[in-house]
Amino acid sequence: MKPRTLVTRLLPPPVMDRLRRETELALEPEDRVFAPAEIIAAAAACDALLPTVTETIDAAVIAAAPRLRVIANFGVGFNHIDVAAATARRIAVTNTPGVLTEATADIAFGLLIAAARRLGEGERLVRSRAWTGWGPLQLLGHDVAGATLGLVGFGRIAQAMARRAHGFGMRVLYWSRARRSAADEEKLGVAYRDRDALLAESDFVSLHVAYTPDTHHWIDAAALARMKPTAVLINTSRGPVVDERALVEALRRGAIAAAGLDVFEREPRLEPGLHDLPNCVLLPHLGSATAGTRTRMGMIAADNLLAACRGERPPNCVNPAVLD
Ligand code: 8YV
Repeated sequence: MKPRTLVTRLLPPPVMDRLRRETELALEPEDRVFAPAEIIAAAAACDALLPTVTETIDAAVIAAAPRLRVIANFGVGFNHIDVAAATARRIAVTNTPGVLTEATADIAFGLLIAAARRLGEGERLVRSRAWTGWGPLQLLGHDVAGATLGLVGFGRIAQAMARRAHGFGMRVLYWSRARRSAADEEKLGVAYRDRDALLAESDFVSLHVAYTPDTHHWIDAAALARMKPTAVLINTSRGPVVDERALVEALRRGAIAAAGLDVFEREPRLEPGLHDLPNCVLLPHLGSATAGTRTRMGMIAADNLLAACRGERPPNCVNPAVLD
């Protein structure tokens, strides 16, 4: 029997074709976010959920789905899923690591260059038809070559960021809960710093940690105060890793020079003031947004979902205790 599945959003066509063929869709996904009550109602008779970052799969959703065997997240970050509640019911939670590494690092590095070289301000100047011509002091930014990049977290995406930074002639520091061996650090061309030293030494600080209670507001007012006044903050991880109110304040006062954000504390809402800051490049959570990457993410989510429903080990289970 095909697993009855709630796919919450319309995914790329090859993924939808496969899910229509290999599962029984509980609801026809639409180009909108389902309300929590719609999710709860649809989940009731489901064997599987395939949510995205826009749906909160909390204990109430899980409790409303007595047949549920797997929550196959579309994406690598799964902080919108109550994994403890799923584990208590022996429901597998899976994610899609690996396939979005390069696309997300591209967006992080793109934000780094855009914020350093004021691409948003330049683009807005030309587009507004207010540009009156070249000037020797016009929109001067910060050098990327020779600068120091501080990576917060050192997983796949941070390492892909380090590879890009080396190509641009940057020095790369990292902070992570688990320090790498000296041999690994040498091979990867990075040097470890504790949190305060990383913040103080870096010209660019780029966030690549999962969002957990430990990383909530990892960048707060005190962290921003430790950064150089010329520093640039990049966030492609999860919004609440940064205290957005403190960031608005720091950018306003010039406590740091600029920021590039792909994620926000309360998406799609932004902290008041953020829209108006010229020194902040704002993107609508585009990290993995290429057709190829989103298709691969969907195929991996489908692989995980179908394997769990067949009683097999899903390849990317984040709560493997439920499989034992
Ligand atoms: C996705 C992401 O766009 O994978 C993640 O953690 O943030 C993005 O790649 C989003 O999560 C899709 O659900």
